[in-house]
Amino acid sequence: MKVLVVGTGGRDHAIAWKFTRSPRVKEVFVAHGNAGIARTATCVNLRTIEEMADFAQRERIDLTFVGPEKPLSAGIVDLFQSRGLAIIGPDSRASRLESSKCDTKVMLRELGIPVPEFENFSDPDRARDYVRSVGYPVVVKADGLAAGKGSLVCDTVEDAEQSVRALMEERIFGDAGDRVDIEKRLYGRELSFFCFTDGTSVVPMVAAQDYKRARENDEGKNTGGMGSYSPHPWLTDSLVKTIMGRVAEPLIAGVREKYGIVYRGILYLGLMLVGEGADITPYVLEINIRLGDPEAQVILPRLRTDLVDVCEAILAGKLGATRPEWDPAYRLCLIATSGPTKGKKGWYKGYPDRYKIGLPIEGVDDIDPDCLVFHSGTEINASGKLVTTGGRVLCIVSSGSTLQQAREKALTEMEKVRFEGIYYRKDIGLE
Ligand code: GLY
Repeated sequence: MKVLVVGTGGRDHAIAWKFTRSPRVKEVFVAHGNAGIARTATCVNLRTIEEMADFAQRERIDLTFVGPEKPLSAGIVDLFQSRGLAIIGPDSRASRLESSKCDTKVMLRELGIPVPEFENFSDPDRARDYVRSVGYPVVVKADGLAAGKGSLVCDTVEDAEQSVRALMEERIFGDAGDRVDIEKRLYGRELSFFCFTDGTSVVPMVAAQDYKRARENDEGKNTGGMGSYSPHPWLTDSLVKTIMGRVAEPLIAGVREKYGIVYRGILYLGLMLVGEGADITPYVLEINIRLGDPEAQVILPRLRTDLVDVCEAILAGKLGATRPEWDPAYRLCLIATSGPTKGKKGWYKGYPDRYKIGLPIEGVDDIDPDCLVFHSGTEINASGKLVTTGGRVLCIVSSGSTLQQAREKALTEMEKVRFEGIYYRKDIGLE
């Protein structure tokens, strides 16, 4: 069969790689990919969802899998379905669960799913009055999509006022800041939890630990993710049961029964676990409609079941009969980013701030073939050289029977990769 993967990042490289492992798949296309993905699959330069649907029809693609949230929110699933093309991902109505933080919080509260106390605002003055009145630290969230950077965690009332100003008046994320969701800041343990769902049955995946901050010891700015590992030490069977029973299942059933939204594809719950043992409450901080990046890079290599079989079960509404199998060994993902470099007019601070692109990358072919290499921001330049094009450049995924073993392997292999200003966190997986 022929598969089309939509995406250009490390997560999307991991998805394409996983499909190449299926004995049922003859060819994998990726729209539009990058230099690393081109080593795994056939990259096709399709930029709009219409071009992708035309390609899928013309090439008789049997299955399309969407990596990022933007094409999902833009309605790629609705478009493909209207043309009778098989595609995995939530449709545009279901995608609102990620693209409107404000509406989603209201929906979750109405469904009785645990959420922090919150209020939504479209008027910055009223938002400021609110943060002055509540008497506890808050998180100010842009309503719309902001590349994972739209949640501003505030320590003080002044921080909160500044966040309201940045999102709603300076409009640092454009229209995404038309409205804000202001919620009580919770203290506990943060966990990303992933499920497959066909709109009725919900099947949990294994969990992964993501590292969002740019610098070691969880310092520095929020990023899309600097590394990850799986299995997750907190995810006991009893915690899985709690999250499924209190969040994942009531959410999928609730949006279907109360709002008529049939949510199919990947469900990614950003949770704050408050309390311990039997008293744990999994509060929903955010919902994403896709696999995480870099969580997918450690989760998919652990999936022993053919991803095509899982996708077919989702499409047929028969996921309830599927029990995906997982490799118990650790996987650890270490991301090399574009770090500080000197430019003509001074220093570039490096990802997630400004960084240089077009820098030649060496050493990738020397990495131990036991590791996986997934690219996020690379291309082949006019001289045929592999160069950087993004803040996150590429990652190495190592495996080991212990987390420590996987960590040491990834760090050793990363020493072989060289480009000007390369930066990676050395504490990924360090407990
Ligand atoms: N790693 C966080 C995300 O994918 O949103």
